Amino acid sequence: MVMDSHKQADCFDGFQGGFKSFATEAIHVGQEPEQWKSMAVVPPISLSTTFKQYGPGNHAGFEYSRSGNPTRNCLEKAVAALDGAKYCIALASGLAATMTITHLLKAGDGIVCMNDVYGGTNRYFSRIAAELGLDVSFADCTQLDVLKAALKPNTKLLWIETPTNPTMKVVDIKACAEIAHEHNKDIVVVVDNTFMSAFFQRPLALGADICMYSATKYMNGHSDVVMGLVSVNREDLHERLKFLQNAIGAVPSPFDCYLCNRGLKTLHLRMKQHFKNAMAAATFLEADPRVDRVIFPGLPSHPQHELMKRQCTGCPGMITFYIKGNIEHATIFLNNLKLFALAESLGGYESLAEHPAIMTHASVPEKERAILGINDTLIRLSVGLEDEEDIIADLDQALSAAHPQKN
Ligand SMILES: Cc1ncc(COP(=O)(O)O)c(C=O)c1O
Repeated sequence: MVMDSHKQADCFDGFQGGFKSFATEAIHVGQEPEQWKSMAVVPPISLSTTFKQYGPGNHAGFEYSRSGNPTRNCLEKAVAALDGAKYCIALASGLAATMTITHLLKAGDGIVCMNDVYGGTNRYFSRIAAELGLDVSFADCTQLDVLKAALKPNTKLLWIETPTNPTMKVVDIKACAEIAHEHNKDIVVVVDNTFMSAFFQRPLALGADICMYSATKYMNGHSDVVMGLVSVNREDLHERLKFLQNAIGAVPSPFDCYLCNRGLKTLHLRMKQHFKNAMAAATFLEADPRVDRVIFPGLPSHPQHELMKRQCTGCPGMITFYIKGNIEHATIFLNNLKLFALAESLGGYESLAEHPAIMTHASVPEKERAILGINDTLIRLSVGLEDEEDIIADLDQALSAAHPQKN
């Protein structure tokens, strides 16, 4: 269900309206004061690892904090609502979520993963899951024929990330889910929704079985929590994932759950501003002669801009661009940024810049990086919530440092 609540900004033109009652649900679902004896309006941080039982096996819903925690419950309920899901489970990191989901499979089962994903996801599938006997292959899911050809009789999991990190390819979630489910209705289609957040994209409504996040990014949004989130509608998947959450034990701390739950309260405001600031920065970079090419799905120049408008309600603050020149120009640019911090990660309120080939994607083999276009001049920005003029001024002065002759 969509509505027109966030159409006030030009950058939203052509995108679907936002999800109904998103802000209200972010602020209220799972947060009911009546669930606490104290009637606390803000959920308390429940640090106790164990909970007193009335009699053996007779308890108030909690036994041991790994299997269930009151603060974690509040977060999980809120995230489920924001994903249009019935259930959510929180995990210790995005990669802990990836690992827990992968444990749905057994040795011999096949995984097809989008070929352009976060470097750590690629590393987990190719160097850990594959060594445990899973049949892992990578395919360019933007080409539906390539995806079709990659699905095998043993395929049990399809892993999509969209837009991809860092080259911002957009994958058609609905089309991929249809192809996978036609091949075998039991294939679990997972979408890594980290870049988009629940505010801009609802994979479950597009046919995916699992929506997962590195909540370390936009969902928490303050660069002070490492966490993973997994939302589902299917009862069978929820039951199994809940079992795995407890049985593997990669759970987040109550304090981190408190912080992430608090971060969600401003997700709608943050994402709108990320989009506005990123659109301004991308427009500036695209017009600049010191820049070779800008990849931002909010720009009409992005090859899948139309798909983005169909599938999403807006774009996050992620911009990738190729600076003119070579690695020296990229390095001088990055070394001269003053407001943007040279750092990995993304999705916080502060602007960050990084060099994927040397930093986040160093774990992707060089040959694969070349195929994906992750070269020495590629720079990834996570545009934060600072003032638009200051963001652009910082990019401008760092470009001047890299290309003094072109000023
Ligand atoms: C798209 C994406 N998915 C998953 C992860 C892994 O998440 P975490 O760092 O929380 O383990 C990251 C981390 O950068 C990411 O960018």
